[in-house]
Amino acid sequence: MPNFIDLAAAGRAGLRAILDEAHRRKAARAGLPKGTPDADAPLAGHVLAAIFEKPSTRTRFSFDVAMRQLGGSTIVTGANDMQLGRGETVADTARVLSRMVDCIMLRCATHATMEELGDVAGVPVINGLTDLTHPCQAMADMMTVEERLGRPVETTCWAWLGDGNNMAHSLIEAASVMGFELRVGVAHGYDPDQAIVAMAEARGGNIDLLHDARAAVDGADVVATDTWVSMGQPGPKDKLAAMAKFQVTPALMAAAAPHAVFLHCLPVHRGDEVTAEVIDGAQSAVWDEAENRLHVQKAILLWCLGKIG
Ligand code: CP
Ligand code: NVA
Repeated sequence: MPNFIDLAAAGRAGLRAILDEAHRRKAARAGLPKGTPDADAPLAGHVLAAIFEKPSTRTRFSFDVAMRQLGGSTIVTGANDMQLGRGETVADTARVLSRMVDCIMLRCATHATMEELGDVAGVPVINGLTDLTHPCQAMADMMTVEERLGRPVETTCWAWLGDGNNMAHSLIEAASVMGFELRVGVAHGYDPDQAIVAMAEARGGNIDLLHDARAAVDGADVVATDTWVSMGQPGPKDKLAAMAKFQVTPALMAAAAPHAVFLHCLPVHRGDEVTAEVIDGAQSAVWDEAENRLHVQKAILLWCLGKIG
């Protein structure tokens, strides 16, 4: 059964199957209490291990509630509460957990740790964020854009502003797999990983790397940003100064399409990467985006466990 570590490995058909399932399941359970299982409870009897080496609100709650709604259950734990935290290897952890659970979700710093878990585990591994990528969030972002704009993500144009970080990397990957246009507007010195950009371009991705916020957002359907200082990163003062021109303001939103949607994976630092007027304003879809983590996670779990796609 497949891992969900890199969007490209799932391919366009896989990502489309996940998005369609997420939309369908969200609509089908409208109005139900959040802990009520979906009518078909497709993962009844299944257990997910959700392991966190870094803090999380959305990923932690969405995976746990996703499993409940699919009829299964979750064991949520911090990596430091496991023997992993005192030196048991990732490979041995993978071997043991694979005997006890049906799927493993990990949030960790080093992407190689995620890949090692995926290589050794005998059950699917889901990437709940590394320092390099955040694919589950990119899926929720695409779902939210389809909901708000009422058209397939493939037909949309996105602007990313600020830091060339893990979220930027997953959106670059998403754009190149699904075939939507992405302008990456980042401060000098904070470009996204060159290998990720090169792989996206090799896939035929329409990725424009710019260092000008106004040019990036010009007429875009989607304006997305993230914290300027990611978890575990040093936050030098000169970085914040370099980022200042990429703050999402009402004036920048006015340069995007009139119907443009604002996205942020959260948590947000109002007054840094985005003004309060924008994130709390009518064009912001951030609360739907956070809720959609739940719906898309359910579809990712079903895809990993061979129930869809
Ligand atoms: N967006 C996101 O992944 O949030 P958490 O860090 O709260 O999980
Ligand atoms: N880029 C952020 C995303 C948080 C969900 C981080 O890694 O901290």
